Amino acid sequence: MIDITVRAAGSDLDKAIHLAREEIYDDTDEAFVKQFLSSTCYPFSQVFVAEDREGEIVGTVTWMVHDVFETQIILEVPIIAVKEELWRQGIGKKLLLDSLKQAKAFWALQGLRVVGFKVHTEEKNNDGPIAFYDAVLAPVTKVLLPDFWEEKGGTYLYHKRMWE
Ligand SMILES: CC(C)(COP(=O)(O)OP(=O)(O)OC[C@H]1O[C@@H](n2cnc3c(N)ncnc32)[C@H](O)[C@@H]1OP(=O)(O)O)[C@@H](O)C(=O)NCCC(=O)NCCS
Repeated sequence: MIDITVRAAGSDLDKAIHLAREEIYDDTDEAFVKQFLSSTCYPFSQVFVAEDREGEIVGTVTWMVHDVFETQIILEVPIIAVKEELWRQGIGKKLLLDSLKQAKAFWALQGLRVVGFKVHTEEKNNDGPIAFYDAVLAPVTKVLLPDFWEEKGGTYLYHKRMWE
């Protein structure tokens, strides 16, 4: 596995947006992806990047707030992407788990405990994201919901509780 550091995107936000567009929203305008990510800006949306030893951004993940109840908070992952030529080297897993630790620490400082998070991916993404979430989030609750976009097909919703 290549050596990466996971950190807040900071001034590399544009690079993270570019990578997300390349790997996920390749049929979407980059300005739209930027608007999507920055419309609910920090701390409601926290963008993290995976940086290699040469300082290149090779992955990105965003954590958003889904809901807050008393001192408990539920997060949501709308975007995770790793550069395609580096898939299956453990970067996605490290990016997700390390950024979650950092998000938990951030919310703990605000007096909130992260009790879980959700993530969803379309049923047709059975070549990668589904296997990725199955492997990295296990054990996890996974349900198939009918698609909003199409008459057929569906979206897998992963619901991860973290009460420990
Ligand atoms: C999903 C994604 C982030 C995974 O990143 P990655 O760095 O390749 O993932 P990892 O190497 O950490 O994979 C961890 C485990 O997940 C599983 N996994 C990941 N990709 C898989 C695939 N294509 N097929 C089967 N299993 C897979 C494996 O169990 C893997 O462990 P292993 O390689 O030791 O067997 C990456 O494929 C990607 O960027 N896809 C395009 C964007 C996207 O669809 N994002 C999700 C929707 S927002």
